Formats: sequence, structure tokens, C-alpha cells
Amino acid sequence: MNPDIVRWNAKYRAVSYTAVAQPDELLVAHQALLFRNARVLDVACGAGANAIFAAQCGCRVVGVDASLEGLRIAARRAREADLAVFLLNADLESWRPPPERFDLVMVFRYLNRALMPSLQSAIRPGGVLIYKTFNRNFLQQKADMNPDYLLQPGELAPCFATLDEIATNDGAANQDVFSWWIGRKPAPLDRTPTLLRFTPPK
Ligand SMILES: C[S@@+](CC[C@H](N)C(=O)[O-])C[C@H]1O[C@@H](n2cnc3c(N)ncnc32)[C@H](O)[C@@H]1O
Repeated sequence: MNPDIVRWNAKYRAVSYTAVAQPDELLVAHQALLFRNARVLDVACGAGANAIFAAQCGCRVVGVDASLEGLRIAARRAREADLAVFLLNADLESWRPPPERFDLVMVFRYLNRALMPSLQSAIRPGGVLIYKTFNRNFLQQKADMNPDYLLQPGELAPCFATLDEIATNDGAANQDVFSWWIGRKPAPLDRTPTLLRFTPPK
């Protein structure tokens, strides 16, 4: 098994279970994206705090993660909240999402550059991507962190060049340890002819 996943399984096994887990503040601030029946993909969902928040908002959520221990916690939280969340145990080194399936693809605290093109294509026209993870500023808190897992300033925007940027913060100005980027896939104009009937007033 991927040694990262062995490590994550051990971490999740060690944490004491709490039913309540706070979703990421960026997701809460953009809660309007979590409309009823929206199809949402939570990439590297871990113990499911963000996936469950989206399900509470009425979304149809798929959470994917390679750690079965993380997913067990997510499943227990979903069950206790009486929410349906589809949890997929898969390695994101090889698993790829289906194209044009999701209204929202979200990634929190996980960096996989090779996955990024397929995340763009997994979004439906008009759908949105939220990507938020640690950047180089994090080395000031954790000097032994592998820098390959940290974003460079300005790195996210060119990775998602087919999307229209909505908002971003790459931590360069404020020393924030997180960078984030939100963008929307352009929706082509609907060219279906519209037939209207005009009834003249009598
Ligand atoms: C920092 S946690 C973030 C969890 C969640 N997104 C959150 O913000 O609470 C990183 C997650 O990435 C998952 N992960 C790491 N490598 C992975 C891989 N190759 N495939 C799938 N998941 C992976 C870990 O199991 C872990 O749950």
C-alpha cells in the first residue's frame, strides 16, 4: 500500500472520534454553491467534515479517499446525522473522476498536481471548482514538511486555465499558510431555438 495511506490510516485510527466536525471556513463562506441536489465531489475527503456539510445543505455528495479509516469516521458521522453520502475508497494516484459529472468539485488540504486536469474535466459546464491547500508559508510552522506537497505562490491559477477565476488568495501578501482558488467552467450559450407564441390583445 502507498506509504502515505498507511500513515493516514494510523492517524485516523489514533484520533478520538467526534461526531461534530467543522467544515472549512472557505466552504462555509461559499455555501451558496451547495444548492439542493447539486452533485458534489469531495476529493481526498478524509473523515468527511466538508462532504457532510455539503450533504446537510441538500447536495448529492461523493467523497473519495484512499484511507479506509478516514472513510469509516465519515460513514459514522453521516449515519449519525442521517445523511446519505457516497464514500469511495480509491487511490487518487490512479483513480480519475468521470467527465462533466459534478456541479462542484472541492479539494481541501490535499495536493496532487497530476490529478488537476481530470478535476477540471469532471466539472459540468457552469459548475465550480474549489481548491485549497497548504503553501510554502507552512514551512515556517513545519520545517520538515516535504516541499513537493506545498503550493508555490500563484501556482493554482495556471493549473485551471480552462476555468474562469471567481476568487483566489495565494498567501503571498498575508503569510497565510493556505492558498486557494475558486473558478467556474464556462457554460456555452444555449443555441436551441425558442418558440414563442404571441397572442394579440383582443
Ligand atoms: C489533510 S487530510 C484532508 C482531509 C479533508 N479533505 C479535510 O480537509 O478535512 C488529507 C487526505 O488525503 C488523503 N490522501 C492522501 N493521499 C491520497 C491518495 N493517494 N489517494 C486518496 N486519498 C489520499 C488522506 O487519506 C487524507 O484523508
